[in-house]
Amino acid sequence: MSNRIAVVPGSFDPPTLGHLDVIRRAAHLYDTVHVLVVHNPDKQAMLPIAQRLSLLEQSIAEQSIDGDIVVASWSMGLLVDYATDVNAGVLVKGIRSQVDVAYETPMAIVNRNLAGIETVFLLPDPAHTLVSSSLVRQVAGLGGDVTPYVPGPVARFLDTGARGI
Ligand code: PNS
Repeated sequence: MSNRIAVVPGSFDPPTLGHLDVIRRAAHLYDTVHVLVVHNPDKQAMLPIAQRLSLLEQSIAEQSIDGDIVVASWSMGLLVDYATDVNAGVLVKGIRSQVDVAYETPMAIVNRNLAGIETVFLLPDPAHTLVSSSLVRQVAGLGGDVTPYVPGPVARFLDTGARGI
C-alpha cells in the first residue's frame, strides 16, 4: 500500500469547481491520483456514471491539471476495495465546512478500520466553499445559470447536452 497513491472519491453528479480544486491539490501532493466516481445509493442521481466520467476527464483536461490522474468508476462494493486493488494508501476528501467534517469523519474512521487506509481532508479555495453538486442540480433543473459553479465542459453540457440539443 503506497502513501504516494491517492483516491479522490465522490458522486461527482455533476463535477463542480470545488471538486476540480481538490483534484488539482491532490495531484500536486501525490504521485498518482485516482478520481473515482462512486454510486451513492443515498442520492437521487442526475447523470449516468459514464457521463460523469466523461465530464471529469474533459474538465481535468480543460483546467490543465497535470500529473498521473486516472478517472474511473466503482460500483462493485466498498470504496476501500478499489483503493486496495490500486495499492492506494490514502483517500482524499474536500472539506467546505463543519458540516462536511461531521459527514466525512465517520466514513474516514470506518475506512481506516476496514483496511488501514487513512483519509486526508483538503480545504478548497474559499471561493468554492458554497458550491455543492446538489445545489447545481437544483439550479440547473430549474433552468438557472450554473456557470459560476462548474467547469466549462459541465456548464456546456448542462446548457445543451442535458436537453438533448
Ligand atoms: O460525493 P459524495 O456523494 O459525498 O461521496 C460519498 C461516497 C460515494 C464517497 C461514499 O458514499 C462512499 O465512500 N461510498 C462507497 C461505499 C463504501 O465504501 N461505504 C463504506 C465506507 S463509508
